Amino acid sequence: MELNVDKTKCKKDGICVESCPNKVIGLSDGNGFPRIIPGLEMLCISCGHCVAVCPHGAMNHPNVPVEDCPPIEKELVINEEQAAQFLRARRSIRVYKDTPVDKETIQKLIELACHAPTGGNSQLVSWIAVTGKDKVHRLSELTIEWMRSKLEESPYRFIYPPEFLKMSISYWEGGEDPVLRKAPALVVAKAPEMVATDPTLALSYFELAATSMGLGTCWAGQLKAALLEYQPVREAMKLKDDNSIFYYPMMLGYPKFEYHLLPKRKPAKIKWI
Ligand SMILES: Cc1cc2nc3c(=O)[nH]c(=O)nc-3n(C[C@H](O)[C@H](O)[C@H](O)COP(=O)(O)O)c2cc1C
Repeated sequence: MELNVDKTKCKKDGICVESCPNKVIGLSDGNGFPRIIPGLEMLCISCGHCVAVCPHGAMNHPNVPVEDCPPIEKELVINEEQAAQFLRARRSIRVYKDTPVDKETIQKLIELACHAPTGGNSQLVSWIAVTGKDKVHRLSELTIEWMRSKLEESPYRFIYPPEFLKMSISYWEGGEDPVLRKAPALVVAKAPEMVATDPTLALSYFELAATSMGLGTCWAGQLKAALLEYQPVREAMKLKDDNSIFYYPMMLGYPKFEYHLLPKRKPAKIKWI
């Protein structure tokens, strides 16, 4: 694998060398232009830092073509105040409008979520998208079915107290959906267990991106618990019978209500060392 350096633009300043996470780039002895150090090709994680950091636009990488890397628009950079309000204003949405979410919108959100960091730039997160209120509602129904079966187990062994399951079941019987909140769409991020943090990070990006587009999300913890062990839920979601895959589901839809205030959090607990 070779870097394609534009020698008319490269200033041999070594910025790409210093920025490379695995130090696979060096300035070649002969002409001083950057290249991948022979023998270290396998350590390149194709993260694109060398391409993105070059102030002269001189770097190109076979796996991260410079023509696929748009410039960072200075006027779109958000300031600290904007970021703080945006982050503080994201809410878990539990009341949705009936409006469906179209596939293009979900696709756009997932593509943005793919920019979340992944361990070793593995980019192994993939997605399942469930569209349509009825399909999502069926997953809630199966989760309630699973809760009923949990309550019948003896001895009762589950992290949620039985009262919690009974409460969910009674809301369901009253016509509410405490599991997936009658959301019109749901996404599931998944990845092999060895990179199990990555789907969670991707979903965090997903929900922030959704907020910016006027959509709302909520982590679907109850469905997540059901899909870990209840075969009918796994089948309905077409999940492989493979415990080495980590899954996390998230509801998606247009919020029925607008929020007006920023609730306080507990003070940050920090141990300075
Ligand atoms: C891993 C995880 C699982 C969650 N599961 C559920 C859930 O099953 N149902 C629900 O209504 N909210 C769920 N939530 C939302 C939390 O209750 C919510 O994030 C918390 O109360 C703070 O509110 P906020 O997200 O609006 O700031 C979950 C959140 C996380 C991070």
